[in-house]
Amino acid sequence: MLYQAPGRINIIGEHLDYNGGSVIPAGLDLYTWVAAEGQNDRVLQLHFMHQELDITVDLDAVPAMQATGPESYIHAMIRALTEAGYELKGGNVVIGGNLPLGAGMSSSASLETVLGLALIDLCGDTVDGSTLARLCHRAESEFVGVQCGVMDQLAISLAEVRRAILINCTTQQHQQLPFPGRSTFVLAHCGRSRQLADGSLNRRHDGCMTALGLLQQAIPNLRNLAELGVDQLLHHRDLLSEEHFRICRHVVSEVQRVSLACDALKDGEDEDLGRLLNESHTSLRDDYRVSCKELDHTVKLMRQCKGTLGARMMGAGFGGCAIALVRNEMLSDMVVDLRTGLSTAIGSAAWVHTVGSAEPVGRIEYCSETFASRLVS
Ligand code: GLA
Repeated sequence: MLYQAPGRINIIGEHLDYNGGSVIPAGLDLYTWVAAEGQNDRVLQLHFMHQELDITVDLDAVPAMQATGPESYIHAMIRALTEAGYELKGGNVVIGGNLPLGAGMSSSASLETVLGLALIDLCGDTVDGSTLARLCHRAESEFVGVQCGVMDQLAISLAEVRRAILINCTTQQHQQLPFPGRSTFVLAHCGRSRQLADGSLNRRHDGCMTALGLLQQAIPNLRNLAELGVDQLLHHRDLLSEEHFRICRHVVSEVQRVSLACDALKDGEDEDLGRLLNESHTSLRDDYRVSCKELDHTVKLMRQCKGTLGARMMGAGFGGCAIALVRNEMLSDMVVDLRTGLSTAIGSAAWVHTVGSAEPVGRIEYCSETFASRLVS
């Protein structure tokens, strides 16, 4: 059997998921693929193509977690599924894909999702998208140890063709939104990679929890930072250090931008959406401080290209990708200009991707020839 899960873009709502806010991600037309066949024993043989890595897991003795690498995600998923009551079976699993790793497009959540789906299918069970997302999120936060929110896993599990998803990360209620019609998203890798499990996301998460604790001394019913009003933040500014104040100011302002972006998508106001992307980048760079010089430069190059309505860093930050919204009639020129400028800046061929229609998570009949040819070799 063959399975796929897309990656994800995040249109807006950065670092809001673990603060209880709403976010607007969408599926990305780059995938993780799994080919799996079951066996009647308790041993899983996995081959991870990206790193030519073979992993054998005895389902009765899943090792303790490791800090990084694909093994940690595989062990984590097996533990999350087993603890949720799935009676997993042994088998052979090959994992591949065309979604760049460590680039802010949720390759880890995509891997968790497709592997979870395949292992559940192999044991003859079924799962709905929201439940699968929760299992994957538990695997990543509890077992791998990354204090991420649930955005990536929900975005991937619930992705639909040419739809963005407004997700309330407190209630996990979600609503499909239209994609911009007159413009297209373009991604570019800034040339510096990052790993989620490296602790940078955990440090921002801890900063938010400290700020929340300080504010709760004065506002006891405040459940999360996304609920904080601008007036409340200004009124209680003295409780916070400058760093914690800026963290909160990013959250409060990004909450407002998500709400405006939701209207812009519904109304087809692409120019407004572009402006909000620009504002989001400023806030992530100056207040939340998760950008880096490579991301700032990529965003600057994107904005210099004719046809760009707005651009910002995307995902956790500290490297990875930036996202731009570009008028359709200028798209091909913009991509050429961006590729040229970025390649010069990073000194090697730049990775630039025009976002197309992402297929949802699920079982598939065919996959790319590159992946298929490796299965038979
Ligand atoms: C990473 C995390 C997400 C989210 C983003 C920032 O992608 O996995 O949960 O926090 O960073 O918005």
